[in-house]
Amino acid sequence: MTHKDFIPSSYATYITEGKVTYKSPSNIALVKYWGKKEHQIPANPSISFTLDTCATTTTLSYKKLKNKASDFSFDLLFEGRPKEDFKPKISTFFKRTEPYLPFLKAYHFTIETSNSFPHSSGIASSASGMSALALCLMELERELNPHMETDFFNRKASFLARLGSGSACRSIEGDIMQWGLHKDTINSSDLYAIRYPYKVHPVFKNYQDTILLVDKGSKQVSSSLGHNLMHDHPFAEERFDQAHKNLTKLKRVFEEGNLLEFIKLVESEALTLHAMMMTSMPYFILMKPNTLEIINKIWAFRASSKTHVCFTLDAGANVHVLYPENEKEEVYQFISNELVAYCENGQYICDQIGNGAKKL
Ligand code: PMV
Repeated sequence: MTHKDFIPSSYATYITEGKVTYKSPSNIALVKYWGKKEHQIPANPSISFTLDTCATTTTLSYKKLKNKASDFSFDLLFEGRPKEDFKPKISTFFKRTEPYLPFLKAYHFTIETSNSFPHSSGIASSASGMSALALCLMELERELNPHMETDFFNRKASFLARLGSGSACRSIEGDIMQWGLHKDTINSSDLYAIRYPYKVHPVFKNYQDTILLVDKGSKQVSSSLGHNLMHDHPFAEERFDQAHKNLTKLKRVFEEGNLLEFIKLVESEALTLHAMMMTSMPYFILMKPNTLEIINKIWAFRASSKTHVCFTLDAGANVHVLYPENEKEEVYQFISNELVAYCENGQYICDQIGNGAKKL
């Protein structure tokens, strides 16, 4: 498949107005995407757990304009209120996706969106937000072209979401999603994410993710800037190669349910992501002192309890604490006794692997 397969030839029906709502989850990468080429093509493949509780709900209302407009026509409401500062990101998304959604200038859109997690939580809402919007637009396209197959619908939704935010392409389905061409993964693609196609041991079913909100401030460094810093990065090629190798290793780990190897791989990926940020030019540190306190506590508890709790990080200070469902009680006790003290205002979110976006 190439990107041209997502350009529609013509539409079968004519729709004047309507409304659609999707709830789309966030996701947490195990092998991280950091670095990209033109047109949001990833510099390396990545894989993530789709989350369940952390999600964006978006309603898209559309009304056909009398004449096709010269620019995109839309209003944006975030949690019920107009949100002008979100609009440039949506305009960019519309610009990038217009070749594949030629109806975009033929409608006026009202986009109403809200998150299940607090806005200033430091949790990136771009994955859930962009995937929810891509799905709503695909639903309109499906109305215009009712014979669309579900597989195509999901692929194109992922393809469009990717043009909004790379990681968003992994939020369409569950429970484990892989994005980016990888020689050992059948059907893998740089254009869209696929459901992980191989056997996964039952120990990963309902895997838990408790997100500790260490720093709720807005991001110091935008993802786009961070990705760009990988262009002249001294360790870039080794890092991209490592991500490919880690995905190959993960295949066996998933199949065998080898949690010790899972922990090594996931924690190393998280620290490598931050190591890339610390060694770029300009360099930056997104972890906070409490991030390190939490990591050390997790290591000490894992050693003494023999549980399989581990951590991963996004491009920020918050810590995702990952553990199998059968260790939930013991690990949860540990989190509330020892880790919550390091969270800003004691805030954290209990989440777990989820099944992907839903039409409401
Ligand atoms: O989707 P973006 O461009 O915000 O990139 C996010 C990249 C990481 O969250 C740091 C890693 C990943 O694979 O999700």
